[in-house]
Amino acid sequence: MPRGARSGERSPVTPLEVLLERTKGPPFPLPPLLRGWYGPLRLQARRGRPCVYANLACTLDGVASFGGRGSGGSDITGPFPPDRMVMGLLRAVADAVVVGAGTFRAIPHHRWIASQIYPRLAGTFARLRTDLGLPPYPVNVIVSASGELDLGLPVFHTPGLKVLVVTTRAGEARLTARRWPEGPEVWAGGEGPTLRARTVLRAISRHGPLRRVLLEGGPHLLGKFLKEGLLDDLFLTVAPQVGGRSDAARRVSLVEDAAFGPDRPLWAELRSVRSSRDHLFLRYATNSGGRRGGWTGAVPSGAPPTRGPKGPPRG
Ligand SMILES: NC(=O)c1ccc[n+]([C@@H]2O[C@H](COP(=O)([O-])OP(=O)(O)OC[C@H]3O[C@@H](n4cnc5c(N)ncnc54)[C@H](OP(=O)(O)O)[C@@H]3O)[C@@H](O)[C@H]2O)c1
Repeated sequence: MPRGARSGERSPVTPLEVLLERTKGPPFPLPPLLRGWYGPLRLQARRGRPCVYANLACTLDGVASFGGRGSGGSDITGPFPPDRMVMGLLRAVADAVVVGAGTFRAIPHHRWIASQIYPRLAGTFARLRTDLGLPPYPVNVIVSASGELDLGLPVFHTPGLKVLVVTTRAGEARLTARRWPEGPEVWAGGEGPTLRARTVLRAISRHGPLRRVLLEGGPHLLGKFLKEGLLDDLFLTVAPQVGGRSDAARRVSLVEDAAFGPDRPLWAELRSVRSSRDHLFLRYATNSGGRRGGWTGAVPSGAPPTRGPKGPPRG
């Protein structure tokens, strides 16, 4: 039985091995089962805006999706039950879970709540939310430029689950042209073809005090948050498989439509490392310094040097 677990409340999987833990501050009051399985979980409060943390998975070579409908992160991770538990835990402490429309379309019958990803611990996750003074479900937020969303899908029809679609003016027009009895709240931010990450956060914060926003991708939306320096922590599951790419198999990587380095590098700081069998659970602070939001603009001490005009070529 994991450390601290009550008798009769057994962890369904072996506890994660904590290889490194550098996070500081008070941990969440996790139920004993989750505390014994994961160890301490901390998310630092931000001044003037919610803490934004992302949770994604990739292969050893950075592939985030094999593509196609139904191609969620499960193809990447296995599926692997401990990864689903981590997803559940991170959802359970969130005020809102945000996904881009590409992610929404890839797993159309999903709802971004803890009990959906790991039903066996639904009661434990519910207890945690109650202990944290949170409503039963985080607000599910779908970001779409086009507004091309199937409003008949389960996420829009789950009692007690608030759904917010953040879209453009064109997307709003498309969505509201279709009448539906009790649809999601639609918020249009701006005339342009895409939305800024800070616009997305502003739209969500209209739902009340917002402390923690979980971004579950996909790679395009993650790129937007990174570009604007609005991602604080990246929880990254590294799955022990190689995806590869070819002309016939074009695959998205973890971050799309945003390019960093070598002139404007975006370095991250390692905060924690956990493992389970051959999977790694990494946590990086992606917004730990620098003059412009998440842009460090300089190589932090201990980080490898970027290729400079006079530097020797590597390899
Ligand atoms: N490995 C993982 O952990 C993980 C996590 C999530 C997703 N995925 C996979 O990634 C694939 C999808 O990749 P993706 O990069 O296309 O996903 P995505 O970022 O979720 O979706 C892109 C779409 O989201 C909307 N969008 C994103 N950023 C926007 C912005 N700034 N303003 C307005 N709309 C915005 C647009 O929707 P419209 O098309 O409606 O305009 C855009 O076409 C799927 O196969 C999925 O399973 C993997």
